[in-house]
Amino acid sequence: MQIYHVPWIYTPVRTVLAIWHQLTKPEIPGLTKCSVVMRERSRVEETIHAMQREGAGSLQVISDFDMTLTRFAHNGKRVPTTHNILDNRLLISEECTKKMRELLNTYYPIEIDPRRTAEEKLPHMVEWWTKVHKLLIQQRIRKDMLARAVKESSAMLRGGYKVFFDRLAEQQVPLLIFSAGVGDVLEEVIRQNLVFHPNVHIISNYMDFDQTGVLTAFKGQLIHTYNKREGALSHAAGLTELQGRPNVLLLGDSLGDLTMADGVSGHKNILTIGFLNDQVEERKDSYINSFDIVLVTDETMDVPNAILRYITSSRDNK
Ligand code: C5P
Ligand code: MG
Repeated sequence: MQIYHVPWIYTPVRTVLAIWHQLTKPEIPGLTKCSVVMRERSRVEETIHAMQREGAGSLQVISDFDMTLTRFAHNGKRVPTTHNILDNRLLISEECTKKMRELLNTYYPIEIDPRRTAEEKLPHMVEWWTKVHKLLIQQRIRKDMLARAVKESSAMLRGGYKVFFDRLAEQQVPLLIFSAGVGDVLEEVIRQNLVFHPNVHIISNYMDFDQTGVLTAFKGQLIHTYNKREGALSHAAGLTELQGRPNVLLLGDSLGDLTMADGVSGHKNILTIGFLNDQVEERKDSYINSFDIVLVTDETMDVPNAILRYITSSRDNK
């Protein structure tokens, strides 16, 4: 407990102590960027300081993929999600594109609706993902065409992504990418951007192909935006690379992403960063109440990079 929070301490003394504390604490870079909104700045700073004291060896990063590591928009145009990258004539018919768009127009507004709870959204998400996966299976997508589809797409990681991935690899900090997108496509995006380093682990919806390389099913339990907690408990909790790392930096763009760290046992400090990409005014309050740091329409990794550099800086100084 900090002494200036004790209620009976004389107010001027508390003020002086608070100013002294502020002056002696090192400034955390990145938090001054204009896209940053925080509910409780002092708690964020305390968490980052605590994480910095324990260094890179105690840290793990858990991140969503679509619209978190990838951009939401570029030059006024939406950047495709891993599902939408599959919208290529090499893989699917025009008819299938049309049906997928109709489903997107029906279900995406539900996914981001600030007036509905996660429980209310859940059955709709299962319906959306199930229908889309069924359509994709009907298309008999070929595994050997995926790389070309990614190359031809306008998929784009956030500005500063290379610094983010490279820094984590250098510092041997595990990065768990936890995505409700399509794992095979996700892997190809990071491979083509030359950041699929050995410290990267992925939990996602993976395609199952037959011996001739044709898509026949999706493997394992379906992951959608609002059931990441189940995946965290059944998959992430078992990853040995993440054991013994009690400090978590979590990145997401959906409130459902907040459950991605639920499988971390014995956690000490969790810092959550939320990208608020769409329906900003309608969703701002709920994001500020849920994430420690909210980045409003910020298409870069500047803030996570600055925080990471700060947390892992002790190792550099040794
Ligand atoms: O990686 P992440 O968990 O964000 O991937 C899920 C995202 O993919 C969702 O936010 C959703 O809007 C999007 N999606 C899509 N097309 C689908 C299903 C989901 O663009 N058919
Ligand atoms: Mg996302």
